[in-house]
Amino acid sequence: MPRCRVNLSIMTFLVILQGAAVVLFCGWYLQLSPSNGKVHVLLLSSWRSGSSLMGQVFSQHPSVFYLMEPAWHVWTRLRNQGARSLRMAVRDLLRSVFQCDLSVMEAYMQEPYRFTSLFMWAQSRALCSPPACMLTPRNQLSNRTECEQHCKAQGLQRAEEACNTYSHVVLKEVRFFELESLYPLLQDPSLDLRIIHLVRDPRAVFRSREESAYDLRRDSATVLEQCKVPAEEVQHQVMQEICRSHMSINERAVLKPPPFLKGRYKMVRYEDMMRNPLEEIDAMFEFVGLEMTQQLKEWVYRMTHGKGKGRRKDAFKVISRDADLVSQAWRTMLPHSKVKRIQEVCKGAMSLLGYKTVNSDEEQKRLDIDLLVPREPDQ
Ligand SMILES: *[C@@H]1O[C@H](CO)[C@@H](O)[C@H](O)[C@H]1NC(C)=O
Repeated sequence: MPRCRVNLSIMTFLVILQGAAVVLFCGWYLQLSPSNGKVHVLLLSSWRSGSSLMGQVFSQHPSVFYLMEPAWHVWTRLRNQGARSLRMAVRDLLRSVFQCDLSVMEAYMQEPYRFTSLFMWAQSRALCSPPACMLTPRNQLSNRTECEQHCKAQGLQRAEEACNTYSHVVLKEVRFFELESLYPLLQDPSLDLRIIHLVRDPRAVFRSREESAYDLRRDSATVLEQCKVPAEEVQHQVMQEICRSHMSINERAVLKPPPFLKGRYKMVRYEDMMRNPLEEIDAMFEFVGLEMTQQLKEWVYRMTHGKGKGRRKDAFKVISRDADLVSQAWRTMLPHSKVKRIQEVCKGAMSLLGYKTVNSDEEQKRLDIDLLVPREPDQ
């Protein structure tokens, strides 16, 4: 029976070969199919620009798996580096996290690897909800304090499991200063990436940064590539870098976008979001394919109106004066000399993004003069 045995092994070989072909083909096919309908959203912003609030709007949505600043771990772990040399590590980290592979975080964390060790994990409603934690039903708003108290420490795999059950993965990052490093993600057929670029009046950012300069000192050093800079110059140089990056990102995406960027970039001004929260959030949701929910509407109203007791029915018709006033605080708090300096450093960005300069102390303090240039719709 030697002939028969030969045939058998040939058969076995052929079967294995065919199996391998099927596996290869499936892999190839899956690579081609765009992201299985999943949408990946990068909230790209800078420090003190309202990105945490915007992140919360997404995080509380029942279809969203949200993480705040995964790149915090990279910058913190490699804290003596510069932003330039870290950007590719950050880019690749984002790609893995978008694909719900959180093992990449292990490189930057201490053992044991728990999702409850992720930076600001309790800001993520999805990590307070099943299957990550049984506390908050998926269609309810989460409460960070309760989440921190009641959700047990669990492995990263539990967060991966959760991530896999959502249609949208949303990541917030303040650690990008250009778009080019993200090109491979925009061209990656396994991702359907949309970028929302949140900017804010540099004068308001500066004021807020001055207040928290100490907390931001490590990040500032990374932004400035660990160069020796006189202490009083640090904030100006960081602002210059931030303004330069806003310009470079916006020009890249709007003036001459490469084909793979078309329809994937949306710029949002913090001030517009504070004046017309519902309209702006509706537009953002539409851009990424999310439905607005009644619960979220009410929640946004409360967030932008402080303890306000506005009538529910016209919640979003009124201008949210509280929030708008806060966003103008720099006009009374900053001395005009400092404002002038920031305007010099950020001239190009301010003109591009639609922030008018003030030419005197009087003009600065007259809050009835609106410094926001209205935006063309759908830009
Ligand atoms: C969250 O929960 C804490 C503790 O139960 C409570 O004190 C706080 O008011 C809650 N926050 C919100 C925004 O509901």
